Amino acid sequence: MCGIVAYVGSKQCQQLMLEGLKRLEYRGYDSAGIATIDHGKIRVVKTIGRVANLEDKLETVGAMRGTIGMCHTRWATHGGVTDFNAHPHTDDKSGICIIHNGIIENYASLKTYLEEKGHRFVSQTDTEVLAMLIGELYDGDLEAAVQAALRECTGAYGIVVMCEREPETLVAARKGSPLMVGVGDGEFLVASDGSAIISHTSQAFALEDYQVVKITPQGFRTSTIHNVPVTPKVQQLEIELEEIELGGYSHFMQKEIFEQPKALRNTFRGRFGIEDGRVVLGGLADHAKELVKAKRVVLLGQGTALHAAMIGRYLFEDLAKIPATSEFSSEFRYRNPMIEENTVAIAVSQSGETADTLAALIEAKDRGALALGVINVVGSTIARETDAGVYLRVGPEIGVASTKAFVGQVAALTLVAMWMGRRRYMSADQCSSLMKSFEQIPEKIERVLATDEHIKKVTQKYVDRENWLFLGRGYNYPTALEGALKLKEISYIHAEGMPAAEMKHGPIALINEGMPAVFIANRGRQYEKVMSNIQEVRARGGHVIAVATEGDENIRKYAEDVFYVPDIEEPLSPILTVVPLQLMAYHAAVLRGHDVDKPRNLAKSVTVE
Ligand code: F6R
Repeated sequence: MCGIVAYVGSKQCQQLMLEGLKRLEYRGYDSAGIATIDHGKIRVVKTIGRVANLEDKLETVGAMRGTIGMCHTRWATHGGVTDFNAHPHTDDKSGICIIHNGIIENYASLKTYLEEKGHRFVSQTDTEVLAMLIGELYDGDLEAAVQAALRECTGAYGIVVMCEREPETLVAARKGSPLMVGVGDGEFLVASDGSAIISHTSQAFALEDYQVVKITPQGFRTSTIHNVPVTPKVQQLEIELEEIELGGYSHFMQKEIFEQPKALRNTFRGRFGIEDGRVVLGGLADHAKELVKAKRVVLLGQGTALHAAMIGRYLFEDLAKIPATSEFSSEFRYRNPMIEENTVAIAVSQSGETADTLAALIEAKDRGALALGVINVVGSTIARETDAGVYLRVGPEIGVASTKAFVGQVAALTLVAMWMGRRRYMSADQCSSLMKSFEQIPEKIERVLATDEHIKKVTQKYVDRENWLFLGRGYNYPTALEGALKLKEISYIHAEGMPAAEMKHGPIALINEGMPAVFIANRGRQYEKVMSNIQEVRARGGHVIAVATEGDENIRKYAEDVFYVPDIEEPLSPILTVVPLQLMAYHAAVLRGHDVDKPRNLAKSVTVE
């Protein structure tokens, strides 16, 4: 979603802010802008398109000067993609300048009020309304004006504000949209993500909801929007520069696919007690008694995270013998969900900021569920809302198409299911044996990655086809959904995933000569049934690409092309079978000439409904 970078200190800040903004490009955006205060005057330059377009424009109109400033990448919500609607926005009275992530929900009534006061708007955005409101309330104290304005607003915001009349002050505030403050030596950065800060300082703190920070080169003061002082916890940012750089790969998505073995080794580290067959999950320890008594698990997520949650459902039923459901968090939050006693709700999210998943978790919690999180970003909003949880530890995911977070989510959910199963029905031996298989996964993924060239060649054969099917059963039905999502989101090919048996109930009508149908056909309980489905597709002229278990020569009789994955217990298989699908989607997008890391219309984390 939108990106924020702001600076106050003693350095000329244009370049360092733009470098930070580039680190946020992966989040998805459609326009970019920058403002500084130069000799007491605010200057704003903005443009639709990429940060590179903004840099071109700055070359033409002249570089920004100033040691205080802000820049922004916008992902349109209110108002189309135009230069006027891009941020920063200014007011028409007090020399206020603002950048904003989120949505001010009551902007229409605030706008009417401000128009009656004589303000004239040049954009269609809710953000300009906030700029005008702060300007209207400004009386020589920017911090107080921001606090007062935010008391009038409903919705979500991460904002940074500056004012010509206080040319050394930045004021930032947050509700529902993350903001970090980087604390340097006589200089401070504010950003929507730590990756924009890390090359300047590793000391930072996160603003909490309804908090405001006033920053000058001399220091900062943090308070609530009601002006109650608060003391933030300045901490070491746990991001390594190499984690957020390409390091020889062509795209972040490719890097993250190849990083999966390492990522999973981190997910597992210290969590296997093979000797006594116990999974060690410190994040659950305080709630062990409630978890043992759990009668139902509700898994919540969106997109790829939902696919991991769907696999989680099978895992909880198989390994922990607990009734489980998985749900779109966007649907769950607006239903009237029945939450029985001893229900555990698990939010699955890479970013920990997905608005629907956050709201669904709160809904479940309010109805008495124990709230767990399976989250990647440490300290994210959802992580902070949970009672307990397990972090994925797969490192920052920059690629918009989620890959290593997916395998991390499935692995972490497996660990939680084993942790609960071991306290209910699983013997130490069963658990140890599954852990041993788990330990082999990174090496097995490496074997799949080694077949990348073959996967690329096969992809080349089909890349011009506009309609694809992805089919699987059981644990690999969600994998089929994930394969289809990966393909469509970066290559813009229409792809549908479904349970293989569902095909006969309608979608089979789509199959025509040469249509690619990807089957996840690894060895498992439903192998024979998948074989029958494959033949149904073949009989209608479809071209079958199968993901199969190494050593399965039989499959070659039925499939035009085969991607082999090593053998593994069925519950662990999606972690392997998804890898060729990720690589195939990656190659299809590159072959079609698309920007894999910046797919059209997509944002990395969806912090609006
Ligand atoms: C697809 C993708 C999205 C996310 C979804 C949830 O590749 O990345 O479908 O999985 O937006 O995001 P998180 O996991 O951050 O809650």
